[in-house]
Amino acid sequence: MKFRSIKGSRDILPEESHRWHAAEEAVRAVMQRFNYREIRTPVFEETALFARSIGEFTDIVGKEMYTFLDRSGTSLTLRPEMTASVIRSYIQNNLGEREPLVKVFYVGPMFRQERPQAGRLRQFHQFGAEAIGGAAPEVDAEVIALSAEVYRSLGVKNYSVKINSVGCPNCRPAYKSTLQAFLKGALADLSEESRRRFEQNPLRILDSKDENDRRLTAEAPLMKDHLCGECADHFSALGRLLGRLAVPFEIDGRIVRGLDYYTKTAYEITSGDLGSQDALVGGGRYDLLVSELGGKETPSVGFAAGMERLMMALERHLAADDGPSPTVFLASADERGRAWALEEAMGLRRKGIASESDLLGRSLKAQMREADRQRARFVVIVGEKELALEEAVLKDMRSGEERAVRLDSLAEVLRDSLR
Ligand code: HAM
Repeated sequence: MKFRSIKGSRDILPEESHRWHAAEEAVRAVMQRFNYREIRTPVFEETALFARSIGEFTDIVGKEMYTFLDRSGTSLTLRPEMTASVIRSYIQNNLGEREPLVKVFYVGPMFRQERPQAGRLRQFHQFGAEAIGGAAPEVDAEVIALSAEVYRSLGVKNYSVKINSVGCPNCRPAYKSTLQAFLKGALADLSEESRRRFEQNPLRILDSKDENDRRLTAEAPLMKDHLCGECADHFSALGRLLGRLAVPFEIDGRIVRGLDYYTKTAYEITSGDLGSQDALVGGGRYDLLVSELGGKETPSVGFAAGMERLMMALERHLAADDGPSPTVFLASADERGRAWALEEAMGLRRKGIASESDLLGRSLKAQMREADRQRARFVVIVGEKELALEEAVLKDMRSGEERAVRLDSLAEVLRDSLR
C-alpha cells in the first residue's frame, strides 16, 4: 500500500525547515517590537464558533470547513482562521480584565477545503495579530503598519497596502440597498456566483474575479463614498496616520473581504510577484464580534497573513541559505576511532558544539565526502595512532588549513576557532 499526503497539504522537508524558522523568527521579532505577545489556541473548536463569527453565508463556512462529529456527537471544526478562536479565548479567560488593550499574535496551521493551486493549500499556515479593546484609528494604523513591517524588514519589495472601509450597521444597510438597486438591471448577466450573492452579500460581488462581472460593476457605487460621519472620520484619520507612520498605501474601494465580521477598516496587502493568489495579508476592524460571541462590546482590529505566501515572496528576494550544519565531523580511521568519535561527539554536544560522527561504518574516504556534503566546518580524523598519541589533525574545511590538536582540548580549540 502506498500512502500520500492529503491533497492540498504538504510536508515541510528538512532541507527547507530552516527557512521557515528564519521567517517565523523574523515575524516574532517584529511582533515583539510592536509589543504583541503570542497566544496559542487549540486547532479545533466547536463548529458554531466559526459559523457565528465568519458568517453562515461565507464561502469558508458554506463549503470550506473541515467539520466532523467526534465520538460523543459534538460537531467540531478544524480552525479555518484564528480570529474566532482568539476572541473565544479572550472572553473565556477574561483577558480584557487584565489590560485595557490586549495585543496578541499567533503563528500556526489553518484548514480550508479550497481548490488547491499555487499559493493555496488546504492546510496552510498563518501568522497574524489581534488588538482587542481599542476603537481609535491609531489601533488600525498600528496593526496595518505592523503587518507591512514584516515584509519590509525581510526585504520584500513588490507589495501594496490597500485600504477600504466597509462601514458599520448605521451606514451599510442603506448602501447595500443602493448597490442592489444599481446591480438589479445587470443581474441576469452577472456570473452565477455573483447572482447567488445578490441577496445576502452583494458587497462581495465587487471583488468577483469574473471579467464580465468586473465590467458590469465598473461604475458601481462604493461603500467608501456612502459612509456615515463616524466611519468617514475614522477612515480619513487612518489615511493620515498611515502617512505619518510612513506606510505607503492606496485606497481601494473594492476590498470587501470574505469574512462577515468586519466593520469600518478592511485592508489587504497584495504582492506583484505571486500570480492569482496575490493576497499576502488580509485584515480589518471587527467592532461587533466580541459582543456577538457573548462578551462585552469590545472594538478590535487585526490581520492574518499566509506563511506559504510569505515564503514565496521571500524566494524572490533572499539568496538561498543552506541551513544549519555541524561544526565538526569526527571521522574515524578504524574501529577504535569510531567508538571514540561516538563518545567524543556526545561530549562536544554537551558543551554546545554541533558534532557528527560516522554511524554507518563507512570508509574514511566516504566519511570525508559526507563531511563535505554536510558542510561541516572542521574535520578531525582519529584512529588507533591518534588515540595512542592523544593528538590528531584538525582540518578547517573552509581554508583547507590543517593543524595538530590535543584530543583533550578539542572543545576549547573548536570554540576558539569559531570566535
Ligand atoms: P483571510 O483573508 O481569510 O483572513 O486570510 C488571511 C491570509 O491567509 C490571506 O491573505 C492569505 O495570505 C492566507 N490564506 C488564506 N487562505 C489560504 C489558503 N487556502 N492557502 C494559503 N494561504 C491562505 C483571515 O483569516 C482573517 N482571520 C484575518 C483577520 C485577523 N482579520 C482580523 N483579524
